[in-house]
Order: sequence, then C-alpha cells, then structure tokens
Amino acid sequence: MIVLGIETSCDETAAALVEDGRRILSSVVASQIAEHKIYGGVVPEIASRRHSEAISAVTQEALSQAGKTLEDVSAVAVTYAPGLIGALLVGVNFAKALAFSAGLPLVPVHHLRGHIAANYLSNPQLEPPFLCLVVSGGHSHIVQAETYTQLRVLARTRDDAAGEAFDKAARAMGIPYPGGVELDKIAETGDASAYRLPRPKVTGSPLDFSFSGLKTAVLNLLHNAAQRGEAVSVPDLCASYRKAVVEYLVDHFRLAARQPGTKQLAAAGGVSANRLLRRNLSSLSQELGLPLSIPELSLCGDNAAMIAAQGFYELRAGHTAGTELNAFAQREIGLDYSKLT
Ligand code: KG4
Ligand code: ZN
Repeated sequence: MIVLGIETSCDETAAALVEDGRRILSSVVASQIAEHKIYGGVVPEIASRRHSEAISAVTQEALSQAGKTLEDVSAVAVTYAPGLIGALLVGVNFAKALAFSAGLPLVPVHHLRGHIAANYLSNPQLEPPFLCLVVSGGHSHIVQAETYTQLRVLARTRDDAAGEAFDKAARAMGIPYPGGVELDKIAETGDASAYRLPRPKVTGSPLDFSFSGLKTAVLNLLHNAAQRGEAVSVPDLCASYRKAVVEYLVDHFRLAARQPGTKQLAAAGGVSANRLLRRNLSSLSQELGLPLSIPELSLCGDNAAMIAAQGFYELRAGHTAGTELNAFAQREIGLDYSKLT
C-alpha cells in the first residue's frame, strides 16, 4: 500500500511516497532555511507563503520521482499538528482537496509521531514497544511507544526544547540560524571541559527537562566575559555546552530506560542528528544491553517520508478524518484520535 505524505509544519515543504510504512519510493524536501536565515529564525508569514507556492510542485515531483500517479496511491497523510498554524493549514488544506478530489482516505499525522516513524524507515526490523527520546526544535519528550499508534509521554520539557536550547545558545555566540547544526560542527574542534555549565533539575519530576537555566548560564558567561574584556573560545564553549545538553538528555533517558520492561531504545527529531548525542546514545545502548534505533541523518530533520510512514500505521488503526479536519499549533502526541477536529 502506497501512502502520499505531506509536511508543512515549519520551514520545509515536503512530499513523499512510502510503501507499507517502510520503503521510501520518493522523498522531496524544499527547504526555506536560506530565506529565514537573514531574519535569524523562521518568519511564520513567509513560511506560509512559501509553502503555498511550493506545495503543488513538490507533490508532483514526489509522484514523478517515484514513477507513480495518484491512482497508485491508497491514502493521503498530512501533518495536522503541532507547528506554525499558518504553515500547517497550507498542508492540511492541500491534502484535504487532494484526498477529496481523488476519492482517497485522509490521514492526519502528529508531527512528532512522524519523527518517531522515521525509525521504521531506517530500521525495517524495528517494532514497538520501544522507548524513544524525541528531541526537535519545538519539543523534548521521552515517549513510550506501546504500539504504532499508542504513545505515552513519560517526560517533557518545562520550558525550551533541546533544539531551541541549541539554537538560542548558538545565536548568543554569533552563530547564524539554524545554529544547532553549526554549533555541533564547531563543537567537534573544541575542549568540552573548558567551561563548567549547570545541570538543571525539575523538582519532583526527575525525568522532566528544563533548558532555560543552561541557556541563561551561557548568556551570563558571554556577558561577564565581555564586561571584563576577556576573550571566549567559541569552539570550547560550543563543546562544553553540547556536552552539558547531551549528557543531561542521556542521563534522563537512562533513568527512564532503567524502568522494568524496557526492551529497545530509539531517538527521533532534528536534534537526533547531533554527533555527540548519537555517540552517547550508542554507548548507553551498550551499557544497558538494549538495541538502539536512530534514523539516518537525512531522516532526522523534517521530511514527508516519516509522515507517510506513520500515516500507514494510523490508517491501519482506522485513524482517518473528513474535510472537517483542522490544524493545531499544539497537540498532545498521545491524544485519542476521536478528539481530532
Ligand atoms: O525536528 P526538526 O527538524 O524540526 C522540528 O520539528 O522542530 O528539528 C529542528 C531542530 C533545530 O532546533 C536544529 O537546530 C536542531 O533540530 N538540530 C540540531 C542538529 N541538527 C538539527 N541540534 C543539534 N545538533 C545537530 N546536529
Ligand atoms: Zn520536526
């Protein structure tokens, strides 16, 4: 069964064809990053306009790269939440019109469920249950994937997401948007023990995350150094900061993984591309004797193949919607599908 996936939740317009939730037939991503870079972050209005301009051509390209037509497609899956509302609405309305005119089922997909499903594309043997560290630009969760469509959040961030924490610290250091990617590269050349940074705690919730204190610590460090006229080594600060964030994420993930019944580990979201995080998760997998799945680099960031993959499993569970489907800026990953519209 071939599912067409559509993704427009942030600054990537994407369409993809995936067979049986596991095999990518085509995956097209039109990135707007270059345009948003000059503003230091995503400008929602520009993102929506660019999605509107690109969505038809990107979808046609996905069909033609796969050598398929709409007649070969069994369902249209679309990201309906969470994300920039104007951006999501472009994809949702396009998918609605396409599904309605072609007489195909419309499958709403939660963006973070999609990120988790990128693992099904990279690791064809992976099946739930598994414990997943979901780290993106907007969210940081530890999720228990009980089945393909039943997801339970064990931990979340109380303030910034991990990607946001990377991007904000990078920005303070003068690294252009999206800073997380570049900070990771620069960190490879720095001394991670050069600067001491705090490991925040959320009282009463040992698994939850809080990144705002770490970000503030970097801002204070830069501010104090500037006041004293001292130079800061950007590579050393990048390396120290990356170490602090990654060890913090992995320590919490270890705590969650030690709970009885954990059989497999996984990671998902843009930040799962981080080099140190990938290395440390691999060490954790060896330490705990549990297999680890991380999507290949090309599937860590936003793409529509992951939406089509999760769409296959949502469809199988009967999770379809009609033309009344709406888009939502915020939505729980574990939400019951009967409460969609
Ligand atoms: O999942 P994603 O592509 O979009 C959202 O759903 O938010 O995640 C984007 C985030 C950005 O904050 C970006 O800086 C971060 O992922 N990111 C990284 C790396 N690659 C992407 N952060 C740290 N190290 C990386 N290598
Ligand atoms: Zn994403």
